[in-house]
Amino acid sequence: MKKQWAILIIFALLLCGMTALAENDENVPNKDGIDYLALVNKLNPLPEGWEDALETVTITNSLGDEVEAEARAYAAYLLLKADLEENDGIYLELDSARRSVAAQQDIMDRFIEKYGADYAAKTVATPGYSEHHTGLALDLYFRIKNDDGTFTDVYYNEDMTRPEYEELWATVHAKLADYGFILRYLQDKEYITGYGYEPWHIRYIDDADMAKEIMAQPGMTLEVWLGAATDADVAVDYGVSALYTEDELKEAAVQVKCRFASFAGCELHTLRYAGDGCNTEENLAWMNQLDEGQGYVQVAEFISDFHSPLRPGDDEAWEADKEYTAWQWWLARTAEGGWQLLTWGY
Ligand code: DAL
Ligand code: ZN
Repeated sequence: MKKQWAILIIFALLLCGMTALAENDENVPNKDGIDYLALVNKLNPLPEGWEDALETVTITNSLGDEVEAEARAYAAYLLLKADLEENDGIYLELDSARRSVAAQQDIMDRFIEKYGADYAAKTVATPGYSEHHTGLALDLYFRIKNDDGTFTDVYYNEDMTRPEYEELWATVHAKLADYGFILRYLQDKEYITGYGYEPWHIRYIDDADMAKEIMAQPGMTLEVWLGAATDADVAVDYGVSALYTEDELKEAAVQVKCRFASFAGCELHTLRYAGDGCNTEENLAWMNQLDEGQGYVQVAEFISDFHSPLRPGDDEAWEADKEYTAWQWWLARTAEGGWQLLTWGY
């Protein structure tokens, strides 16, 4: 009897241990309870339970604004800042780091009002899908030291991207990896990341060696590094449109490409605008049915040919090694603008 109890207790303890391990594996994928390589982008929201593990610090920047950042990311930032101040005479500040979903919504609303929905869509993430929710993304700005010893803050996007500051950013970027940071939104990689060039947005990955490997490869995005996207661009055929400017169609095409980049192993061969005939009442009703309550007023359809991989991934429905022709992509926008990719397929 005693022996049976002992066996039962040992079995129960083992079971508890195994459950704890399994939970730990799933929810605490890295040291300190934070997965420093977590991918949060247009397609991947903030992982569930993130905030339970997040440890942050809050500081006040030179503009008097409070900024909250993940604790290790902030400690690494301080080292980067000190290095740049001492050795390069560059004075960094933090404009924004961790943002709540509500704070992200405020920024989105502000940007739509100030710059329009298309610029906002390629500059500000949809609330819930911003890397800033992690606390690991830091938006930098800088202060210029004047001859009389006073400082001038440079922090608006349009000021920070002026050509005269290219060299300054190059100096900052060259040092990011030493402290475990990478540059996240690279020039000409919008078709993968979904966002235009942001010299100020850096991402802490807590691994200087890996950061150095990533930063040493020109054009390497976190999406591609993690195997979540394939880097292959195609030229888009915008055709002729009386409804949309080429810039407007470009904004739509970027969304299609960004989604396609996540089709594991697939190769995009062509992408073309289907023509103004797609903007029918019937299609508009369909879009509004797919995403109720948005009040879409215009539709755009793109068509693509692509090739599926030799061996399709487990979660994809592709037939192996096949040329898919005339695959459709459907987007809609509201009166304010800002394309939403709503559905795709045959
Ligand atoms: N500016 C980046 C994309 C964000 O809003 O998360
Ligand atoms: Zn940012």
